[in-house]
Amino acid sequence: MGRFYITTPIYYVNDAPHVGHAYTTLNADALARWHRLNGDETLFLTGTDEHGQKVADAAAKHDMTPQAWTDRTSARFREAWDALDVSYDDFIRTTEPRHYESVQKFLGAIYENGYIYKGVYQGLYCVSCEDYYTVEASDHGNCPIHGRPLTEMEEENWFFRLSAFEDRLIEYYDTHPGFVTPETKRNEAYAFIKGGLRDISITRTSIAWGVPVPWDERHVFYVWYDALINYLTAIGYGRDDDRVATWWPWSHHLIGKEIIRFHCVWWPAMCMAAGLEPPSHVQVHGWLLVGGQKLSKTMAAEGGVKLTDIAPVTLTEEFGVDPLRYYLLRETALGNDGEFSYEGITQRYNTDLANNLGNLVARVATVVGSKCAGVAPAPDPRSELAAIAESTVETAASAWEHFAPHAALEATWALIGATNAYLERHAPWKMAPGEPVERVLGDALEVIRLVAVLVSPAMPGVSRELWRRLGLAGSPTDELARESLVWGRYPGGIAIEKGEPLFPRINEAR
Ligand code: MSP
Repeated sequence: MGRFYITTPIYYVNDAPHVGHAYTTLNADALARWHRLNGDETLFLTGTDEHGQKVADAAAKHDMTPQAWTDRTSARFREAWDALDVSYDDFIRTTEPRHYESVQKFLGAIYENGYIYKGVYQGLYCVSCEDYYTVEASDHGNCPIHGRPLTEMEEENWFFRLSAFEDRLIEYYDTHPGFVTPETKRNEAYAFIKGGLRDISITRTSIAWGVPVPWDERHVFYVWYDALINYLTAIGYGRDDDRVATWWPWSHHLIGKEIIRFHCVWWPAMCMAAGLEPPSHVQVHGWLLVGGQKLSKTMAAEGGVKLTDIAPVTLTEEFGVDPLRYYLLRETALGNDGEFSYEGITQRYNTDLANNLGNLVARVATVVGSKCAGVAPAPDPRSELAAIAESTVETAASAWEHFAPHAALEATWALIGATNAYLERHAPWKMAPGEPVERVLGDALEVIRLVAVLVSPAMPGVSRELWRRLGLAGSPTDELARESLVWGRYPGGIAIEKGEPLFPRINEAR
């Protein structure tokens, strides 16, 4: 048992939440849920990034003040996460007073330590990235990510002496091999540092929508500079030293690959400059893309749908919350790019959920009904499934520990597959009532109990429903959950419920 502090990026509130945001948040949620189940004291933080030009522009476009606009859009993120059963412990908004206080104290400390100075900045700016590019890094004067023309900007700014941290960053990477995972992303960040670091401009006078610079009120902090500090605001930086000492530096920042430089170069350097340890781990994931196919009839756009056009809630109406969660976690290994497709989610649903898990549950319940009068038998302690189940638990636990939800689920589904094969082989539906049939069914029920616990990080609703149908008291994720992941705990002798099909098949041809 230990502590587990996991964060998502805080999302810009220039627009509504989309499936890409849900991808990160759901992975973080599942990881948090696994750690809670494991008995770890867990803190799961998400939230919204509300300053900067991009958000100010969106507010103006909608004829609203930035504050009114961010209030509205931030609420949409919270609603989306509530609808997706996201168990965040704290939802931070960068416009909250607690954040202003932490940002001003943190940057005040960097200023006091002599790492901030005044200079003139001239460069090419992309509002969508909220970032400057050099001419060489630009794509013929356009943003390399958004493809839009960059704007020439010149400002008198305060600068952070990032260049002073080159050697310390390299040393930190060398002595902390697990700082950034996966390795390919770590190498990318490392190469960037090795390539030489330039000081960065951290304030703006051109906009007013930001956290005021305490020593020069004409300036506000540049949005990225205030945003990163949210990870410390939430644990009480500048307000509650004991709480900071409890959680820092043992944090796990889950991020998309486009914000590596901010999290793996700037952020550790900022922490060093403020006299803090850098965060202990950044887990980078790839991008989820839509291969251009039309997603579904209910998603009105014809062809060429962008991932950013898809509201996660629309998908839950079609597939259900837990199947969407399962698909997003199961399909792509964290770190790789993945593809989101209507065909893909339908296929996962029909194969893994309807055919494998759904079928296992339905056939066991039916045969317990016909051969055992609906009363569940207990498992055989020496069942051939026991060893498979226990090695599944080990594999899944290690996968969760290593930020590999897809591998944890893959292992769980191998157990489900082995159990379906076991049933096929023994065909309890053909056996006469009595001890042999009871043993086979008891074993299958025990697998379902273990599966209920193992799938709980990914599919909390399905997990609870399985538990209920098995006639078990309490919840699959109570404080004894981790200890209950051993063979033979299903007591038997209880009435089980057959219920409706858990995952009615989806017609693939629609
Ligand atoms: N506000 C900054 C982050 C500040 S963190 C201190 C930001 N916000 S964002 O709204 O643009 O969200 C970016 C994050 O959303 C990505 O890093 C990733 O986690 C998630 N994703 C956005 N689009 C995505 C995909 N297409 N695929 C996977 N993740 C996606 O950057």
